[in-house]
Amino acid sequence: QWTTASIVADQVARIRDQVGEGRAICGLSGGVDSAVAAALVQQAIGDRLTCVFVDHGLLRAGERTQVERDFVAATGVNLVTVDARERFLTALAGVTDPEEKRKIIGREFIRVFEQAERDLKAKGDYRFLVQGTLYPDVVESGGGAGTANIKSHHNVGGLPEDLRFELVEPLRLLFKDEVRRVGLELGLPETIVHRQPFPGPGLGIRIIGEVTADRLATLRAADAIAREELTAAGLDRDIWQCPVVLLADVRSVGVQGDGRTYGHPVVLRPVSSEDAMTADWTRLPYDVLERISTRITNEVADVNRVALDVTSKPPGTIEWE
Ligand code: XMP
Repeated sequence: QWTTASIVADQVARIRDQVGEGRAICGLSGGVDSAVAAALVQQAIGDRLTCVFVDHGLLRAGERTQVERDFVAATGVNLVTVDARERFLTALAGVTDPEEKRKIIGREFIRVFEQAERDLKAKGDYRFLVQGTLYPDVVESGGGAGTANIKSHHNVGGLPEDLRFELVEPLRLLFKDEVRRVGLELGLPETIVHRQPFPGPGLGIRIIGEVTADRLATLRAADAIAREELTAAGLDRDIWQCPVVLLADVRSVGVQGDGRTYGHPVVLRPVSSEDAMTADWTRLPYDVLERISTRITNEVADVNRVALDVTSKPPGTIEWE
């Protein structure tokens, strides 16, 4: 019988077996899977694990702190943060097409992450790469053992041979709910363990139009308010996620105080879902919507209107880009 404690003990033993006296690298995204995978490996090999976190500047308020402070406090893990905010802004300058944005963000992410790997490898014999691959990922990609590389950025051609890693995938046999239980068992904070999904390209695909530092600051502030109010209303576990989208190329007229405003709308996109393949728009209580709207229009300069997306998936996707 598999209790959470026995899953942890078993995985820790397997990791020790695989890694021996070797060193491992793990990329943290801020999400549940990489955090739990890293915590398990940390448990097994201690400071022979180094985690790498790329701040691409497209994160939400508090996410970097959550990794740098809370995750490190809970695990004691070695962490290298790469501040790549300028690099991403430069690469995204002038780009408005959603697919192009995604490609650029993905490409830059790989480059930054691989540079971090090279820097680490230059300092020590890092032979292992930790990935938070879950059982459903394994099944979806047709199984396959060994070093098949499922969802990540490392299977890119052109890497020098000596940069190849052996994969450590301690979550390969687990489903999401088991991963969360393992995370709690390992003492990770609830904010990480029960984090709602957030796309890799981050706020970059929630700004409709060009991504700029100012627009990111605006969206980050609006998003933080929406999340705060949803949490305060106890709704975090009821919704799958609630993207906040900034329509940066749209302006509308408003009135505030004794002045006319000409600001941007944000759209709330609360959805309920089992697996993100399909989703329904969530009927949030009116009073919660009202608080979010009032606070955003009062507290976020440049935003003078809050709209609600009442489209299911299909036909809408959850994200707008
Ligand atoms: P869509 O917009 O396709 O989103 O209905 C489905 C789910 O996937 C998330 N999402 C992503 N997650 N990288 C990710 O890790 C991505 O590029 C990405 N795009 C969308 C989205 O937040 C939703 O939960």
